[in-house]
Amino acid sequence: MTVRLTINGAERRVESPPDTPLLYVLRDEVGLNGAKYGCGLGQCGACTVQLDGRPVFSCLLPVGALEGRQVRTVEGLGTAASPSILQRAFEEEQAAQCGYCIAGMIMRAQALLDRVPDPDEAAIRAHMQANLCRCGTHMRILRAVRRAATAMRSTVS
Ligand code: FES
Ligand code: FES
Repeated sequence: MTVRLTINGAERRVESPPDTPLLYVLRDEVGLNGAKYGCGLGQCGACTVQLDGRPVFSCLLPVGALEGRQVRTVEGLGTAASPSILQRAFEEEQAAQCGYCIAGMIMRAQALLDRVPDPDEAAIRAHMQANLCRCGTHMRILRAVRRAATAMRSTVS
């Protein structure tokens, strides 16, 4: 079965069996390794990507259900040489320890900032609570999201 979907703005045809989780398709067929396998159960958020602008657990999504959908991964935000505002904020706050959770954290946070440019502390905390950091850098991650929101506001104004 061929599934057509858009990944980071480019149309792709993928051939994995339809019950294959999107996470495996991204990593093993498409070669995008940013999203990580943590639990495979929708409990950690390491695999978070965006589907039509919403953060989703890609470990739980069978690719066969995604015909025509828009997927965005951390590779679609920026590069090491040219990071996005949010990626730069994560660097500046030194939010990563081992780094395993960070791509998922960034994709979840970006979905919030795309929808709510000026989130308050409660909104940031509520939105980010679905993603876990085994290293316990949550406070730095929250600071990075706040820093990015401030930077994005000053870019717009
Ligand atoms: Fe998907 Fe943990 S690997 S939520
Ligand atoms: Fe290690 Fe978050 S930085 S899991």
